[in-house]
Amino acid sequence: MVLPIYLYGHPVLRTPTELVTPDYPDLDKLIANMKETMYASDGIGIAAPQVGVSLRLVYIDVDVLGDDLPELKGVRMVLINPEITVDESVEAVSREEGCLSVPGIHESVQRHEKIHLKWTDENWQTHERDFEGYLSRVIQHECDHLFQTVFVDRISPIRKQLIRGKLNNIVKGNVDCSYRTRSYKPKRK
Ligand code: NI
Repeated sequence: MVLPIYLYGHPVLRTPTELVTPDYPDLDKLIANMKETMYASDGIGIAAPQVGVSLRLVYIDVDVLGDDLPELKGVRMVLINPEITVDESVEAVSREEGCLSVPGIHESVQRHEKIHLKWTDENWQTHERDFEGYLSRVIQHECDHLFQTVFVDRISPIRKQLIRGKLNNIVKGNVDCSYRTRSYKPKRK
């Protein structure tokens, strides 16, 4: 089932997430719905808060970028309770990002080039390894969503000021996108 994507400004994107436990009801169904929702909106990553669920769960599929970046060919990952450790000795790099929850906005974000990741997969197997380059960036972006952070929180104050009007429109749901969304609209009395 394709779920609506919660937009920038919605409180669910700022709500602390819980660890996923093996007895979480219908976890398979939630993962399947997140995949379907991400493909329907042409995304390469999605985090549970973006579909309104405050859980530490991410799905990534960067296969579509494999023509330009061969190392991404066939890379699809379910990340349950991911934990990132960064290598501070490696210089951070800046690159443009976008987000399904922030439609129409692309901005440069500084990220660590190399990370170490521990996670559990959908078969409840635990993994641990290093990631670098573009995939490391996608993982950092998605894991940010699990800690109430959206990529525009990481851009310079000047850039943020310049896109303030666009962000306010997203908060109000004035967006033009091809997928279903849910925006934050204060309730009228
Ligand atoms: Ni995002």
